Amino acid sequence: MKKLVTGILSLAVVAGLGAGMVFAQETGEHKAAGAAAEEEHGGTPHFPIHKPEQQEWSFAGPFGHYDKGQLQRGLKVYAEVCSACHSMNLVSFRTLEDLGYSEAQVKTFAANYEVQDGPNAEGEMFTRKALPSDHFPSPFPNVEAAAAANNGAAPPDFSLIAKARGVERGFPTFIFDMFTQYQEGGPDYIHALLTGYQEAPKGVEISEGTHYNPYFANAAALAMAKPISDDQVTYDDGSPQTVEQYSRDISAFLMWAAEPHLEDRKRTGFMVMIFLLIFTGLIYLTKKSVYANKEH
Ligand code: HEC
Repeated sequence: MKKLVTGILSLAVVAGLGAGMVFAQETGEHKAAGAAAEEEHGGTPHFPIHKPEQQEWSFAGPFGHYDKGQLQRGLKVYAEVCSACHSMNLVSFRTLEDLGYSEAQVKTFAANYEVQDGPNAEGEMFTRKALPSDHFPSPFPNVEAAAAANNGAAPPDFSLIAKARGVERGFPTFIFDMFTQYQEGGPDYIHALLTGYQEAPKGVEISEGTHYNPYFANAAALAMAKPISDDQVTYDDGSPQTVEQYSRDISAFLMWAAEPHLEDRKRTGFMVMIFLLIFTGLIYLTKKSVYANKEH
């Protein structure tokens, strides 16, 4: 028995060492590749040039919740500005009821959009006004058309963008992130991108038709021009009509679009932690009572 246990233990140690060595080698290779990439780019830093600043969000942390007023403002920014280029083809209009709108309001809102349907009895496709069950359509007929209209880069779909973007925070921040439950990398990134447009510094050349933004994750410049400026969207709740506020609201809205059930998830997680705590206490008491009269 003892032999078997030592056998298993030493196997585990060997396996652990082996895995460690492979990992070390891989990171070594990665480093080498990274250095080569830097050399190729004339020593330019990795992108993004600046990391997004961490913002405060109502939906952060274990008790996080969406601010409905903010989501409604975000929807307004999306509908009046971003939807001219970006679709949300996984989000249906009827989910807007989550934001506090009535069925009738959603119906009226959906009717502002046109979607393709068909074929009809003659076998032809046709367009009609969108219904609550339709999804936010793309303004372009296909990706190629979208790219052609935007300097070769198609505007990405927004359904999951808040989850799909985020910048690596590196050591040691990512260790702390596990304890603080930081999950807002996406909204922080979108906010930083929208508020981060500036003049390209001297000596930095960017290709024609792109716009310098040190927060863009893939390069120094992107094909989207600064999409929004102060006073472009009218808010009816008295919130400031500034790029800063618009960026916060659209980022929160995109987080909701990507994760509409975030509140439920957090609530369930919290209940599970409470349950585990109580359960641990009960198990400890059971163990004590079972062994109460036994000699050690
Ligand atoms: C005129 C068209 C247009 C409008 C309007 C527009 N965008 Fe874009 N957007 C683009 C294009 C094109 C790209 C792709 C840029 C690239 O990859 O170089 C893009 C990319 C993005 C990205 C992804 C960046 C990345 O990391 O890949 C985000 C986020 C974004 N837009 C947010 C917004 C928001 C928010 C709005 C509304 C306030 C908006 N956009 C309005 C054209 C537009």
